[in-house]
Amino acid sequence: MLIRIACKSDPKSSEITPKDQYLNRRKFIAGTGLVAGSVAMGAIIKPVAAKVNSPGMNPGLKSVVEGYSKLGEDDPLTPYGDVTSYNNFYEFGTGKGDPVENAGLFNPKPWEIAVDGLCANPGRMGLEDFLKPHDLEERIYRLRCVEAWSMVVPWVGVSLADVVKRFEPSGSAKYVRFETVVRPEEMVGQRSRRILPWPYIEGLRLDEAMNPLAILAVGLYGEELPNQNGAPIRLMTPWKYGFKSIKSIVKITFTDEQPRNTWNVMAAKEYGFYANVNPNVDHPRWSQARERRIGDFLRRETLMFNGYEQEVGELYAGMDLRKEY
Ligand code: MTE
Repeated sequence: MLIRIACKSDPKSSEITPKDQYLNRRKFIAGTGLVAGSVAMGAIIKPVAAKVNSPGMNPGLKSVVEGYSKLGEDDPLTPYGDVTSYNNFYEFGTGKGDPVENAGLFNPKPWEIAVDGLCANPGRMGLEDFLKPHDLEERIYRLRCVEAWSMVVPWVGVSLADVVKRFEPSGSAKYVRFETVVRPEEMVGQRSRRILPWPYIEGLRLDEAMNPLAILAVGLYGEELPNQNGAPIRLMTPWKYGFKSIKSIVKITFTDEQPRNTWNVMAAKEYGFYANVNPNVDHPRWSQARERRIGDFLRRETLMFNGYEQEVGELYAGMDLRKEY
């Protein structure tokens, strides 16, 4: 079943423009059985090409998922067109429009994920088997990029905590490391190592990975993830800067060493391991106190932990967040 987890810091939305379309997509999910525990992604979710196209409606729509009317004023959903055309995905180029332009060559099907390292149940499996035991959930989250822009996105995904538990990390595992696919023939940005050292790597402390907010997203707006948004599966940790949300994951490793995440390797003074959204700790080259919500004219104040302090603040009790950024 589709579970909409209401969390304490839910973004609020009453914005009508994308909502009409969106509700139809929500009905689409409910009507097609996308939400069934056993998920055949390709068969059930309508694929979205790399180019922006508005997802179609399903004439067989039946039920509407509850909960949407409770959303309020401050955080309207960012329209689908913006979410899928203003991206960071350096594997497809460094411009915001490059991913949607260049990701058409990328083929995320079939897809395999390897799980290895310090755990009882390592293995390599197709995406469908990887997802099969888990319920798909809808999560509407703010996404705050370290570059001081933000969005509100309705994701579809599985709880990362549930995934972690299933592979049974051993007592010595302290971190989870994630790795993006390397396919220079399909990912034009990967043809140059001057852009980033490939593969893109990210990591979480194990207790961060177990936080209920963390998901592995496989869709947005009720559709499969478009290539430019990290098809077929990406991380989403909404209290952290967007660069933690690694896309197109092929490998998950349980480890006792803090992973060296790509942006930290590139510029350690500018990008840390934790990357928690923090309006009080500026980037060396710009303020993090405010942000531009895509579609807004005026900038707004950035919230501590991107507004998710109640859910995640405990994870960092006793840490000096100025040093451990
Ligand atoms: N993952 C990979 N593999 N490569 C990237 O360049 N960019 C990150 C993150 N995940 C990136 C990535 C950054 S900087 C951000 S802000 C988010 O993806 C953007 O996600 P979006 O394009 O879906 O908004």
